[in-house]
Amino acid sequence: MKDYTSIEKAFPGLNKEYRFAKLEEKGAQRNPFEQFAQWLGDAVKANVSKPNAMIVSTVSAKGMPSSRVLLLKGFDEHGFVFFTHYTSPKAEDLKTTPRASLVFFWPQQERQVRITGKIKKTTRQESVDYFRGRSDDAKLASWISAQSRTIKDRGALEEKLEATRRKFKGKEIPCPEFWGGYRLFPTDFEFWQGREYRLNDRLLYRKTLRGWKIQRLQP
Ligand SMILES: Cc1cc2nc3c(=O)[nH]c(=O)nc-3n(C[C@H](O)[C@H](O)[C@H](O)COP(=O)(O)O)c2cc1C
Repeated sequence: MKDYTSIEKAFPGLNKEYRFAKLEEKGAQRNPFEQFAQWLGDAVKANVSKPNAMIVSTVSAKGMPSSRVLLLKGFDEHGFVFFTHYTSPKAEDLKTTPRASLVFFWPQQERQVRITGKIKKTTRQESVDYFRGRSDDAKLASWISAQSRTIKDRGALEEKLEATRRKFKGKEIPCPEFWGGYRLFPTDFEFWQGREYRLNDRLLYRKTLRGWKIQRLQP
């Protein structure tokens, strides 16, 4: 095999200078949700694939961290919402440690956003409202999957899908009790913008009793 011990040598051109934009205190939004909306909008405009994909990290009762990609489905001044199975490993983690971290990475913009905070389930009504807007296939997929449990093979999954399709034929597919949303209530946001000479811009927004305090972090 070729020598990959240094990926910079194995793939010349891998490490480009960051030159896309800057993030300075003057131009930044005072409200981190507004700043986030602006950056997400930039990623959408640039046709980034899955710009709302985020890495969500949770911690188990034993202190073991785990991370996975989820899609952000909405946010407002209170928090960031995603949907999943309430019987999944991440949901088990959130039962004992209701805190999480989110990371968005938009490589074309040379940007990262890190968000941390407490987590709560969305209301049942919010989950039901969101579920209603999903396609029938997505609804059925939520019903048949015992998320992250093992299964014999793909055929067994397809059989479950067909049986569930028959069960709900001609009826509205309801939102399963074991499926729904979580909302992360941020206490910290860090916006990272790649800059020339590795002097990257990093602004930390921390929630205080008097509103959001903004501080610059060293690269
Ligand atoms: C692009 C992408 C989007 C995903 N979106 C979701 C999602 O919104 N909800 C979800 O439960 N899983 C989603 N997944 C699957 C999760 O990454 C993960 O496999 C699953 O939630 C099980 O996680 P857990 O075993 O840690 O609970 C997505 C995966 C990818 C790659």
